[in-house]
Amino acid sequence: MNAAVRAVVRMSIAQGCEAYAIYEGYEGLVQGGGLIKRMHWEDVRGWLSEGGTLIGTARCKKFTERAGRLQGAKNLVLAGIDALVVCGGDGSLTGADIFRSEWPGLLAELIELGELAEEQCSPFKTLNIVGLVGSIDNDMSSTDATIGAYSSLTRICQAVDFIDATAYSHSRAFVVEVMGRHCGWLALMAGLSTGADFVFLPEKPPQDKWEGEMCRIIKTHRTAGKRKTIVIVAEGAIDRELKPITATYVRDILVDELRLDTRITTLGHVQRGGTACAFDRILATLQGGEAVRAVLESTPDTLSPMIAINENKITRKPLMDAVRLTKAVAECIKNKDFAGAMNLRDPEFEE
Ligand code: F6P
Repeated sequence: MNAAVRAVVRMSIAQGCEAYAIYEGYEGLVQGGGLIKRMHWEDVRGWLSEGGTLIGTARCKKFTERAGRLQGAKNLVLAGIDALVVCGGDGSLTGADIFRSEWPGLLAELIELGELAEEQCSPFKTLNIVGLVGSIDNDMSSTDATIGAYSSLTRICQAVDFIDATAYSHSRAFVVEVMGRHCGWLALMAGLSTGADFVFLPEKPPQDKWEGEMCRIIKTHRTAGKRKTIVIVAEGAIDRELKPITATYVRDILVDELRLDTRITTLGHVQRGGTACAFDRILATLQGGEAVRAVLESTPDTLSPMIAINENKITRKPLMDAVRLTKAVAECIKNKDFAGAMNLRDPEFEE
C-alpha cells in the first residue's frame, strides 16, 4: 500500500496537481485537521518497500453514516481536494462509491446548514473517485491480483520453508493455517508453491468423508518416501455443510488415523508484515500511476473505476461491478452453491 501511496503522490505532482494524504483512512477524512496533509515528492521517499501502511488505517463507523460523510465532504472542500484515490477492500471501495453518489448533495446540505458558503463549494461540483485494491486476501473480482497478496504469499512460503526443516528432520506433519478471510487464494497458492500434501479452501469444500481421502493421499506420499507432511488450512475453510474445518480437527485426524507426530502453526499477522515483494512494488506503482491518469481523464459521466490487472495489463474496471461480483461469490458459498462460487472466480472452471 505504501508503494501505491508513493506512486499516487509522485504521479500527481508530475502531472501538476497537489497531492494530499488522508491519514487513518476514513477516520482522517471525518476528523480532518492535521490528518489531511499536503504531500511532497520527498515525503514518500523509501516507501516503495515498506510493509503495512505508513499513513495508517482505521475502521470508521462514522463514515458509514451520512453525518460522518457530511463532515468528510466539508473537510475535503476546506482542504481544496476534488479527487480521492482510495486503496482498500470491498468495504472501503463501496464507502467511496456511496460518498461520490451523494455528491454534490452533501455540499448542498452543508450550504443549507451554514457550514460552508456557496462560493466555497462552487469549484467542487464533482468528486472523482478511483479505487485501488489493497488486500492480502486477493478476494476482489475483476482483477487477477490485489496489492499485498503476493507479498503475503511470499511470507507464507518462507514460513513453510522454515517449518520444513523440523518436519523433515523429525518426519512430522504440520497443519498450517493461513489467512484469507472467505477467500482461498492464499491457501491454494501456498499449497502449490510449497508442494503441500492437502489444502482446505472455502470455495471448494472437500467431498463428504474427506478424512479418509486425505489420509489415503498422505499415506501414499509417505509410502513413496516423503518424510514430511504439510496440510494448508484456509482460515475460512468449511465443509459442504458450511461447518468450519479447523486446524485442530485436521491435526487430530492425522494423529488418530495415521499416527503422525503433528503440530499446528497458525501464521497469523506474520503474513501481513515485512517488506513488499517485487511484484507488489511493481503492481502498486503501475496502478498508482494509472489511478492518477484515471482521475485526470474522468468526466462527470464516468463511473468510478477500479484499477485492476488482467492478463498482465493494468486495466480500469467499473468499481461497483467488481464489488457486486465479489459479494456474489460470498452469497454463492452461503447458499452452498460451490460450483457457482468457483465459476464467478473463474468462468472457465469445471467441477
Ligand atoms: O483481510 C485481511 C485479513 O488479514 C484477513 O486475511 C484476516 O481474516 C483479517 O484481515 C484479520 O483481521 P484483523 O487483523 O482485524 O484480525
